[in-house]
Amino acid sequence: MINAKYMRIGAGCVNRQVAIALLAAAVILGIVFISGRPDGAQLFRREGCIGCHSFRGQGGLIGPDLTAVTHRRSRGWIREQIRNPRKHHADSVMPSFDHLSWRQINALIDYLNSQSES
Ligand code: HEC
Repeated sequence: MINAKYMRIGAGCVNRQVAIALLAAAVILGIVFISGRPDGAQLFRREGCIGCHSFRGQGGLIGPDLTAVTHRRSRGWIREQIRNPRKHHADSVMPSFDHLSWRQINALIDYLNSQSES
């Protein structure tokens, strides 16, 4: 009887420690995820997309306006266009941005998909 009671208390403590450790890990992962998230708006300018493309009334005219591009094209298609524009248009003047990471390209697509950001 007594032994069983101690075991229950012991197990309860371990469970609490595990829960606290998991919570701490989740918080740390969350901070890393949010702070390490690439900024699509910044990439759009830094990578020079804005020199050729307009987005919500601002930018160049060499390429198509990208304001509603996510309504016309799938994410996969846009990802392909960014990494390898020649795949869609053999004589494209758009440079390939295959130096960008998956996450950076995702951030760019999220930015193109955003409606309220400035
Ligand atoms: C030198 C000019 C230039 C730059 C820089 C450029 N593009 Fe383009 N882009 C074009 C042109 C021109 C097209 C038209 C299709 C083609 O020729 O590939 C295009 C097409 C696209 C399309 C498809 C639009 C549609 O409606 O079919 C997307 C999406 C796109 N570009 C995204 C980007 C992004 C994101 C960047 C920056 C990482 C970028 N482009 C940089 C010139 C450029």
